[in-house]
Amino acid sequence: MKTLLITLAIISLCVAENIKCTEQQKKAEACTYEYEPVCGVQVDQDNFYIQSKATYGNKCSACATEGVEFYAVGKCEGYPENAVFCHPDISSQQQGCTREYQPVCGYFDESIKCRKAACGSNYSNKCSACINKEVNYYLNGFC
Ligand SMILES: *[C@@H]1O[C@H](CO)[C@@H](O)[C@H](O)[C@H]1NC(C)=O
Repeated sequence: MKTLLITLAIISLCVAENIKCTEQQKKAEACTYEYEPVCGVQVDQDNFYIQSKATYGNKCSACATEGVEFYAVGKCEGYPENAVFCHPDISSQQQGCTREYQPVCGYFDESIKCRKAACGSNYSNKCSACINKEVNYYLNGFC
């Protein structure tokens, strides 16, 4: 039991999900100017993996922007240019993943101490990468 609790504690420390904008945040009419940049992501209605992103001064101004669905902490420029961010709903809405083999490298939050150099892990496809809560974004191909 103790080991389980410790394991759970460690796992929850490692979870750095992208954060979904709430309906309230989307309706915000004014935002403060505090500078805590986030990478706001707009997502295609039919495909969570088709995205466009931009840096905003804070989460309020990101979420108040039409079309922005969720955000990742920090500037977009801090992530690889071709990074596709995992939509926060993927793990809850997706029951499972197809076995389609199209390898991607899923990246964890940089604050996690990575045992492997690049903070990444190979997955057989984008769904199996993003369904893991600890994966923030992926790049096509092997790590
Ligand atoms: C991912 O797979 C490639 C090709 O098999 C391998 O060279 C690489 O070391 C793997 N990377 C990780 C982080 O497991």
